[in-house]
Amino acid sequence: MTFYERSPVTVHTVRALTPGEGVAPDASSAPEHETNVRPVVGSPPVGRWSVPPRRLVHRMSPSEGSAFPERADGRPERTADPGGPRVTKVEITVDGTSTEHEVEPRLLLVHYLRDVLGRTGTNVGCDTSNCGACTIHMDGQSVKSCTVLAVQADGSTVDTVEGLADPVEGEAGWHPLQRAFHEEHGLQCGYCTPGMIMASKGLIEDNPDPSEKEIRDGLEGNLCRCTGYQNIVKAVQSAAAEMRGDTKVEVEA
Ligand code: FES
Ligand code: FES
Repeated sequence: MTFYERSPVTVHTVRALTPGEGVAPDASSAPEHETNVRPVVGSPPVGRWSVPPRRLVHRMSPSEGSAFPERADGRPERTADPGGPRVTKVEITVDGTSTEHEVEPRLLLVHYLRDVLGRTGTNVGCDTSNCGACTIHMDGQSVKSCTVLAVQADGSTVDTVEGLADPVEGEAGWHPLQRAFHEEHGLQCGYCTPGMIMASKGLIEDNPDPSEKEIRDGLEGNLCRCTGYQNIVKAVQSAAAEMRGDTKVEVEA
């Protein structure tokens, strides 16, 4: 089976629907055209600049061998560096667990967390380091993990949103910020929430009783596309009160 299959196709255009053009308006009498390539669902678009399908299939066929030139040792030459990528060993304590891996020096910490450790609670929401969805704590400081290389975190202690709750306790083991975001409806799609919670945690640790303005200033590096921020501010105020040990306060609407 190839990406494409040959069969005749009937094409109708808007001209076939327009009376007075010499073409009957009903589809049955519309002109038929035959094409020799019909894309199957999921296939790449057919166009002047697309890879010819037969060539694409030919290059990918295992029975045809590699499309790349062979090296003296028989392995295909695929990279500019025949020796392959250099790797560096890193040791990072993540959510209380010691981890140790060999990584490429260019690997970002957020990708180490997500792709190497499988801790996908930390999100990637942009490629410009401005959304804050990837916020974690590194040695107690809240940082955007897409701005840090994994090798820079070597020897560090990293805390992510996945380490906040006690998994054994269920909802009773949630962090006050997690509970407050839930109760104050501080999320909609939830994509920004891991970063919001970790940034808020750092904010409250630095300032246990932040004003609304201080919360808005403190979270300016975290973007939410859904909530309009009002309920996020309420959630942070509520969590801060609980973490201070105050009785539950009614936050302003
Ligand atoms: S993914 Fe890090 S700031 Fe957006
Ligand atoms: S809840 Fe959707 S981006 Fe913030």
